Amino acid sequence: MSKLALVVGGGNGIGAACCAVMHEHGWQIAVADIDEAAAQEVAQAVGGQAFALDVRNIASIKALADRVGPIDALVVSSAIFQGNVPIEQTDEDLFDRVMEVNLRGTYHVNRVFGMRMAERGAGAIVNLASVTGQGSTPLNIYAPGKAAIINLSKSLAGEWGGRGVRVNSVSPGVTLVPRIRERKASGDRYPADLDERMALGRCVEPNEVAEAVEFLASARASGITGTDLVVDCGWMTGALWGAYLGGLR
Ligand SMILES: NC(=O)c1ccc[n+]([C@@H]2O[C@H](COP(=O)([O-])OP(=O)(O)OC[C@H]3O[C@@H](n4cnc5c(N)ncnc54)[C@H](O)[C@@H]3O)[C@@H](O)[C@H]2O)c1
Repeated sequence: MSKLALVVGGGNGIGAACCAVMHEHGWQIAVADIDEAAAQEVAQAVGGQAFALDVRNIASIKALADRVGPIDALVVSSAIFQGNVPIEQTDEDLFDRVMEVNLRGTYHVNRVFGMRMAERGAGAIVNLASVTGQGSTPLNIYAPGKAAIINLSKSLAGEWGGRGVRVNSVSPGVTLVPRIRERKASGDRYPADLDERMALGRCVEPNEVAEAVEFLASARASGITGTDLVVDCGWMTGALWGAYLGGLR
């Protein structure tokens, strides 16, 4: 019998790619997103179920868990981006808005679904983090939130490992979801030589992140927990080359 995966934030971008790729690998899919129309479109494409969910609302996360029932895998891809805002121009509202969705939301979705998996004695969770959580960037709220998601995943892996629940994270580099592909093409935000900064000479495709997520969610990764898997086309690998030859060859 095929296993059921719930993809939170699955209405767009990497989450939508996770739904498509996991469906190809034989999973049944439930999609939850604040963007209900997008969730419905994705669910229809993979013959799955769609649910409206705002991860800021803990009561609605619990209500969703009751409606969906037991799941074999949870993918948390919901997030908002902050933009390159110098810290002098940030404020409490921006900090709270980003952290409320990205960190607090991920925490409570993990807590609600992970506790139920632990009670049943089985399950796999994959949280979407980011390479920005592993180094210094201008994203002074988003990136620390992503660093915390890597740590949260490791912490929960330790807490629930003895009860059959694996928890890992995936850290994408610049991934060409429609929104980012458009910005890159228009020259907005990203430098013209962005591709040259990656060891593989290009940015990541959404399905490449999704394949890593599916692997970690599947029984093929039965011995892996508390790991962060970087999918960045070698961006981090090439980071120190600038000081020597002016960049990668
Ligand atoms: N695209 C990239 O280059 C990139 C790089 C590194 C990490 N990531 C991470 O990967 C994940 C997916 O990113 P993406 O580029 O696909 O983003 P996206 O904006 O395309 O998708 C995010 C989804 O989350 C949903 N969402 C937002 N707020 C929500 C809320 N309160 N409740 C429920 N759903 C909510 C959105 O509706 C959307 O469907 C995020 O965690 C992001 O931080 C993306």
